[in-house]
Amino acid sequence: MERQIQQLRESAAKLIGAATDLKELDNVRVKILGKKGELTGLLRGMSQLSAEERPKIGKIVNEARAQIEQLIADKNSELKAQDLQNKLASEKIDVTLPGRKIHCGHLHPLTLTLNRVKEIFINMGYSVEEGPEVETDYFNFEALNLPKDHPAREMQDSFYITEEILLRTQTSPVQARTMQKNPPNTPIRMIAPGRVYRRDDYDASHAPMFTQVEGLVVDKGITFADLKGTLDFFCKQFFGENAQIRMRPSFFPFTEPSTEVDVSCPICHGKSADCKVCHGSGWLEILGAGEVHPDVLKMSGYNPEIVSGFAFGMGVERICMIKYAIDDLRMFFENDVRFLSQF
Ligand code: PHE
Repeated sequence: MERQIQQLRESAAKLIGAATDLKELDNVRVKILGKKGELTGLLRGMSQLSAEERPKIGKIVNEARAQIEQLIADKNSELKAQDLQNKLASEKIDVTLPGRKIHCGHLHPLTLTLNRVKEIFINMGYSVEEGPEVETDYFNFEALNLPKDHPAREMQDSFYITEEILLRTQTSPVQARTMQKNPPNTPIRMIAPGRVYRRDDYDASHAPMFTQVEGLVVDKGITFADLKGTLDFFCKQFFGENAQIRMRPSFFPFTEPSTEVDVSCPICHGKSADCKVCHGSGWLEILGAGEVHPDVLKMSGYNPEIVSGFAFGMGVERICMIKYAIDDLRMFFENDVRFLSQF
């Protein structure tokens, strides 16, 4: 019996030593110490021993069990440590590897342009106002001195939703909205960027939807010279120090006098007869403007005897096309990534 136990001890030590993973080790444990295991089998055989032998052998068996259990526990922690080691080795990260390049999106050229325009005017103390794209006939036309039968309404073919509601054809309604929001004669210095809609063709220079920036300044003693100085300053900021402006007489029902403003070609500076941007003329129209018509002030509760003002409406696509020499308006709306990624 003693020999059997000794043999079992030795073979157990061998098996435990040879186990290469936790599962194998557990199999060994079951094989020897389990209910039907070898050591348990030996214990059962003890019933055949004499009364003197029993305690002696019992002691040896218990010692053997304790020893085997200890061997298993030691092997168990050894295997666990090894497992962790393997895991650490296989999951190692090389932090010195160069990273994978993440492709970054671009701001749309119109967004870039609008951001720049806003920045220039905000730096001059202007606020940024907003108005609805679905507008009433009253704000889009009537409050701007364009009564129902006014022929100048035809300058801007409109998308009507009902008799009284349309898609705004210009950002000028925000002029009236801003004045009416204020107590009478409160000084104003604001721009209003946004989309406008007209029943136009869709080609290289027309689209049924485009973007404008409205400007309105009202205060005591505002003159046409302030308008000119402001637009000249803006163009120099936006197009570069060499930019010049030229004013041509024009007509808008809500300004008097009215003007259309051209900027000198920032691409060829008027020096190239076959310039892709100005086609040799040297000048590019960018906006309509004028002194706010006294009736427009009156209709929105301002007193033209006390205050005066100027207003302008600028085409955002236009100034963007001029600045970046883009020759087709449709580029802005078709969103070809090869085009967009150049900005
Ligand atoms: N609203 C005019 C247009 O869209 C532009 C403009 C604005 C003219 C303000 C004068 C004053 O054509």
